[in-house]
Amino acid sequence: MNSPSAETATSRLREEHQLILRVASAMQALLAEAGGDEGLDFDTMADCVTFIRLFADACHHGKEEDLLFPELEAGGLPRHQGPIAVMLYEHQQGRAFARAMSDSLQPARQGDERALSILQNSARGYVDLIRGHILKEDNVLFEMADQTVRGSACERLCGGYGAVCARRFEGRSKEELQALAARICDTAGMPD
Ligand SMILES: [Fe+2]
Repeated sequence: MNSPSAETATSRLREEHQLILRVASAMQALLAEAGGDEGLDFDTMADCVTFIRLFADACHHGKEEDLLFPELEAGGLPRHQGPIAVMLYEHQQGRAFARAMSDSLQPARQGDERALSILQNSARGYVDLIRGHILKEDNVLFEMADQTVRGSACERLCGGYGAVCARRFEGRSKEELQALAARICDTAGMPD
């Protein structure tokens, strides 16, 4: 039986969702400011792409896809239909938006209008996608996970999360990526 303060099968992932949502709001603010005299803040948008690739995708979605989803599959939830299939599909969509942002950043910075429009549309697409995605995970799949993965299975899973979080992602630690998120939010003028 888990005590109220113990780590559940999803508590670490839910915490990471909050940081990802903060960066999504920062991106939204950067996009809204892009109509002003200064134009789009390309350096901070580049930081957002780094955060999305390394924190939201490699570190966070990595734990979901390699650890949580297989645990749920072992418990009988199908991989190719239902909530897991939807979550996997949305992870792919998020990667496509991140790739489009990454590919268009440099030409957009150099004045290519088409690239700028791709960059802004992809960033907007990512913000919308990730908000809906996290809402579904928090309220549907993670609720199922918290009900089904308990006791020693939960401890093993959380140990696995810890090992992933201790890795480096293209040379950056999770703490460094969290600090990057704080700088992004600060630059975008988001309150703590
Ligand atoms: Fe997630």
